[in-house]
Amino acid sequence: MENLQGKTAFITGGASGLGLGIAKACAKEGMNIVIADFRQNAIDEALKFFNENGYPAIGVQLDVTDREGYVKAADAAEAAFGKLHILVNNAGIGIGEPRPGVGKFDYKDIDLAIEVNYKGVLNGIMTIVPRIVKHGEGGHLVTTASMAGLVPVPGFILYNSLKNAVISVMETLACDLKQYNIGSSVFCPGPFSTNLGLSSGELRAKHLGIEPPKFEMPRNKEGAAPPPPPPGPMPDFSKIIRNPDEAGERVVRGIKRNDLYILTHSEFKAGWDARAAAISKAFPDEPVNPDFIKVFPMLAYNPIFEIQTQVPAFEK
Ligand SMILES: NC(=O)c1ccc[n+]([C@@H]2O[C@H](COP(=O)([O-])OP(=O)(O)OC[C@H]3O[C@@H](n4cnc5c(N)ncnc54)[C@H](O)[C@@H]3O)[C@@H](O)[C@H]2O)c1
Repeated sequence: MENLQGKTAFITGGASGLGLGIAKACAKEGMNIVIADFRQNAIDEALKFFNENGYPAIGVQLDVTDREGYVKAADAAEAAFGKLHILVNNAGIGIGEPRPGVGKFDYKDIDLAIEVNYKGVLNGIMTIVPRIVKHGEGGHLVTTASMAGLVPVPGFILYNSLKNAVISVMETLACDLKQYNIGSSVFCPGPFSTNLGLSSGELRAKHLGIEPPKFEMPRNKEGAAPPPPPPGPMPDFSKIIRNPDEAGERVVRGIKRNDLYILTHSEFKAGWDARAAAISKAFPDEPVNPDFIKVFPMLAYNPIFEIQTQVPAFEK
């Protein structure tokens, strides 16, 4: 989707971190912005940027697990700006990981993770896509997955697998929505400095009816906790952990290019190559049955991957 001027973006988890970075970048393109987030205080804080810069933006309080609430939020967005064109399914949580056989295996966290990180994405698609199809002007969908969905991080069963699942959702939608002129991208960031620990704790407390956790960790001026130090001399974290505004610019570039995958960190390429090579090696060394290919062409080969072209270096 090349011309974003005057179009409307509905961004879940848009009040903080990557979602806010995406919202700012969309606003700079002349878009109307809908910040949908479950934390009203974060929405109020985030809206200051848009108001101060004269960018059209509204905030709607929404928990993406609430399907009725989602319809109301979409109605409010349409009442403010007319048609919706871009949905960014960015709301997500980091999960206190259940480790079967190692730590406490808590089914409530499994359910919550699926509700937010998987079903929350589907709720957005179910609510917003018919509205984009209906106005017929086309649009674009982005879901924030993670590098963890491509290169699994040991110990993070839920996070890895649910991010992997939404990658598959967006690949499938890229096939299914082409006919409606709706593009589909999956955003797989590496580490960025955000409030993920804080907001995840608040959402978990809300859903489980418990007290929000108290954060003891030192925080930077944006409220984000630094990662634990690696062994050896301290590296310069400002050169390692990136700013969400950059993520936003990359996402906007990906929307304009119609990238299927929007990636941020070339450091992960070796990890991905190793995974892809392992899967290739696992195909048995046996001849292909040409009749199988004739009968099931779409099962054996999906041409959607051909839309992804080489992405140039990002110019800051
Ligand atoms: N920060 C990273 O390094 C990183 C890396 C890869 C992927 N991600 C993903 O990026 C996305 C954004 O997270 P972030 O890191 O910017 O954290 P963040 O806490 O700064 O922003 C997330 C926002 O989503 C909101 N949110 C959470 N659950 C919600 C729900 N159920 N309904 C509505 N709003 C909800 C929070 O209130 C918060 O404002 C998440 O999906 C996360 O998994 C983050």
